[in-house]
Amino acid sequence: MQAVIYLSQNRGFESELDIQDMISFAQEQNAKHYITGYLYFANNMFVQYFEGKKEQVDALWTNISKDPRHEVLFSSRSEINERRFNTWYMRDWTSSTRVESFLNEYLSEQLQYLSSNQSSFIDTIFPKESKVWKIVDNIGKATNPLEPDL
Ligand SMILES: Cc1cc2nc3c(=O)[nH]c(=O)nc-3n(C[C@H](O)[C@H](O)[C@H](O)COP(=O)(O)O)c2cc1C
Repeated sequence: MQAVIYLSQNRGFESELDIQDMISFAQEQNAKHYITGYLYFANNMFVQYFEGKKEQVDALWTNISKDPRHEVLFSSRSEINERRFNTWYMRDWTSSTRVESFLNEYLSEQLQYLSSNQSSFIDTIFPKESKVWKIVDNIGKATNPLEPDL
């Protein structure tokens, strides 16, 4: 199985309602393809994490990366042995006021840092992306299990 995390800039959604529509569509599609994960929208940026069988992940990433409604700034993919969010077909954390908002703000900052292509002494010690995956892992551990979607 594989997992993808990315940061993107909104280019086409004009209201929260447009985003809600897209998320409803995504939840339906993802349930069909057994893609699980979550989406977080803040400051006009999306952070989305999704996981599933390689074939399904490839197909979804092909669609998402060429979707003109946003521009992907940074993405990373990794092999996984088990799902982190196995009951969520695409949980929406956009208006969450809970701990996950804080975790996702932190994750978003790390992704922005990576997308800005800066480098520092720290990067030579810690591989850049491993920190991002560690945060994702902590989000999975901190928030599962919540009640399932759908
Ligand atoms: C930020 C963002 C997140 C998306 N997440 C998903 C998703 O989780 N699942 C999904 O099926 N489509 C998602 N989409 C929509 C896809 O980009 C694409 O429109 C959809 O897969 C339909 O593609 P098709 O019209 O070629 O079938 C997302 C789009 C955006 C902009």
